Amino acid sequence: MEFKKNILCIGAGYVGGPTMAVIALKCPGYRIEVVDISAERIRRWNSDSIPIFEPGLDEIVKQVRGKNLFFSTEIEKGIKNADIIFVSVNTPTKTFGEGAGMASDLQYWEKTAHEIVEFSRGDKIIVEKSTLPVRTAEAMERILKVGNRGRRFEVLSNPEFLAEGSAVADLLEPDRVLIGAHQTPGGKRAEKELVDIYAHWVPREKIITTNLWSSELSKLVANAFLAQRISSVNAISALCEKADADISDIAYAVGSDSRVGPKFLNASVGFGGSCFKKDILNLVYICKTYGLTEVADYWEMVVKMNDYQKRRFVQRMIKEMFNTVAEKKIALFGFAFKANTGDTRESPAIYVTRKLLEERAFVSITDPQALKNAKEDLRGIDDRVTYEPDPYKAAEDAYAIAVLTEWDEYEHLDFERIYQSMKKPAFIFDGRNILDHKKLHEIGFNVYPIGKTSFTHFD
Ligand code: NAD
Ligand code: UGA
Repeated sequence: MEFKKNILCIGAGYVGGPTMAVIALKCPGYRIEVVDISAERIRRWNSDSIPIFEPGLDEIVKQVRGKNLFFSTEIEKGIKNADIIFVSVNTPTKTFGEGAGMASDLQYWEKTAHEIVEFSRGDKIIVEKSTLPVRTAEAMERILKVGNRGRRFEVLSNPEFLAEGSAVADLLEPDRVLIGAHQTPGGKRAEKELVDIYAHWVPREKIITTNLWSSELSKLVANAFLAQRISSVNAISALCEKADADISDIAYAVGSDSRVGPKFLNASVGFGGSCFKKDILNLVYICKTYGLTEVADYWEMVVKMNDYQKRRFVQRMIKEMFNTVAEKKIALFGFAFKANTGDTRESPAIYVTRKLLEERAFVSITDPQALKNAKEDLRGIDDRVTYEPDPYKAAEDAYAIAVLTEWDEYEHLDFERIYQSMKKPAFIFDGRNILDHKKLHEIGFNVYPIGKTSFTHFD
């Protein structure tokens, strides 16, 4: 079949894989290839067990793979053949040198820029899909210009707003698609090519076009605003526990104001995931670089509040269990950073486990999707850890359960049975406020939700 255009995506991760699968589904006239340096990842994308768990993704990949969606490690060939190249490589927080712990580590991203220059034969549109510091496109253009040998590269910014666990739904029905381009004839032509792709399924009024720098910065700001809501509600949850107020009632009352809105106001053990912390710290670093100390401090507090919430959660567990968890078995229900994903990057569960192990507890971890990643995260420190797919077994002989991920199935467990199998007094620390706290109390548990009065059997 003759394809209208060849699209290449460099980086077959949580963003590259699902995004390209949906573009392939919606744009059968385009040939899409996803490449990665990880041969293992590509092997899995080509197998029956794709490398990420994302509801609905399996079916889409099966439908389009081998038709207009291809996964390969042939980066050089892919670049040569492509008209449009999405760059979707990882941009983690730098762990070394200047800006360590805050700035983005752009080494993977820069490497792709050099590869594009080296292997390109004709003109290309380069699309920044990764989340990048503002004005990164400028650096990309400089690298591309140095070796361009008469070829034209037009750089666009097209940040991704999907959330894990709902990636397919987010991609099929996005709130908006954002495209940043140079406001030049060449930039506008490239912008139109990308708009045309998304317009296959996204209503035109939801496709926002801006200049490059607004688009790059909007992505960091969007994540900072979302995380800020969680830190705001979590800060108030600490006050609720002191004042006998209920954080769910407060979130409902406050969120009912249409200027605030109801979403993203669930108090929790803290936000996790590969991006919130990294993107806010990156924003903080950029502000510091521009000498905007107050702005930097303001946003940094969102991350500090999140650290406080995680710390507070474990400290409360230890305090309520008579100031010691040494030699006690504690069951953790959930290890993924949120439900419907196996991803554990920056999951609060990692912090909670480490702290409990430091206190010499035995930790039994259960999770429907994340046990493999949990083992990786705890490698070398897990001689007191067991990994147990069955939550009933995980809770056997435990002194306490801590709910760390809001998996639906935890709401439907037989807690009477679980209570019978546990040591007494039995504790539940609900880090996601998903359980029926009154009922658990009636069964016999001492129950500690987030930002609500606890239900105990002690005087
Ligand atoms: P990821 O780590 O899952 O995937 C990145 C992939 O890029 C890896 O498979 C890696 O092997 C590959 N890679 C690195 N350098 C390469 C190179 N030179 N050539 C080919 N492949 C290379 O990361 P991710 O979660 O998909 O995130 C990618 C970007 O998207 C990040 O900037 C992130 O901030 C952003 N983002 C992520 C999400 C999310 O939900 N995970 C959502 C929106 C935006
Ligand atoms: C987030 C954003 O929601 C996406 O728009 C963005 O594209 C993505 O980051 C990114 O740039 O990587 P994600 O991290 O996948 O998506 O998941 P979220 O649903 O945002 O949850 C993040 C964390 O916040 C989770 O640990 C979740 O449990 C927690 N959370 C979320 C709360 O504690 N309370 C809430 O009310 C909502």
